Amino acid sequence: MLTDHTETTSLISTALAAEVRTGLTQQPKRLSSRFFYDAEGSRLFSEIMHLPEYYLTRSEYEIIDNYKDQWLSLFTAGNRPFDLIELGAGDGLKTKVLLTHFVAQNARFTYSPVDISDTALDELTEDLAHKLPSLAVTPQHGDYTDALASIAQRTYTGTNPPRKVVLFLGSNIGNFTPDDAVAFYAQLSASLAPGDLLLTGFDLQKHPAVIHAAYNDRQGLTKAFNLNLLRRINRELDADFNLVNFDHYEVYDPERGEARSYLVSQTRQTVTIGALDMAISFDYGEIIHTEISRKFTREGIDQLAEQTGFSQSHWFTDCRHYFADVVYTK
Ligand code: AVI
Repeated sequence: MLTDHTETTSLISTALAAEVRTGLTQQPKRLSSRFFYDAEGSRLFSEIMHLPEYYLTRSEYEIIDNYKDQWLSLFTAGNRPFDLIELGAGDGLKTKVLLTHFVAQNARFTYSPVDISDTALDELTEDLAHKLPSLAVTPQHGDYTDALASIAQRTYTGTNPPRKVVLFLGSNIGNFTPDDAVAFYAQLSASLAPGDLLLTGFDLQKHPAVIHAAYNDRQGLTKAFNLNLLRRINRELDADFNLVNFDHYEVYDPERGEARSYLVSQTRQTVTIGALDMAISFDYGEIIHTEISRKFTREGIDQLAEQTGFSQSHWFTDCRHYFADVVYTK
């Protein structure tokens, strides 16, 4: 069930507490990247999307702009209205191009952005009310599990019910482990009806140096984004991480197609986490694994569809073949 902001926020703090308790007592230490997105983390990620090194957003923007008309034909095939549900909508930067086009074409559709950050969601909803006042927007604050439940609960009646079109852009799927991605898409598939669509943005494997640079930007925004997780734990769980004692380290492994992000302790130190009544020791050079960003091959993308009850119907890419937006049909 999706809940109101206050309740969801306290559920997230509880989830963060559980994550910190288990993640920082494991070897190697780990914390999930799903906790990156507090207000400051969402703001930093919006800035990352504009970085010269972070090609993902520009590549996907190019695809959306080039193919928005073809997408509208796919979404409305058979003259059906559609219910556009966007997982991890964030600031909706790229989606606004689509929405503006669909509204201009008088398409019959509604838009439900789902995001873990209430700040990002509030700003997006306000902006859409201003720019596209005729568009019916139903924002939903929650994580991906909440989103799955809400998609499953949507039932329609009538002779020409809307098609569900789930958007999962930005290679957010790359932040899932392979097993979690399969489990998530299998659940998603189970809550869709034949003819419904899932459109995913996948970052593709390419020259490792290009990927490496995207996560090691010169301005240090990715470092700030990674370190912000510790700032969040300080604030929400009364911890005393000294951020200058941690560094950002990101590697790309081209054999596995996986960028991995770490926080590295720059000294021997002990950190206390007041809300958990815990003290955590770090050796010099010890890591906390914070994120994976997987990069895909066409074969892997086909396989994901096959494993989860979808058929892959359309493939769209940018001129450099850096990124692909792929439509799976239920
Ligand atoms: C949200 N996600 C797809 C981003 C990525 O590229 O994995 C998050 C990010 N991490 C560091 N930079 C951007």
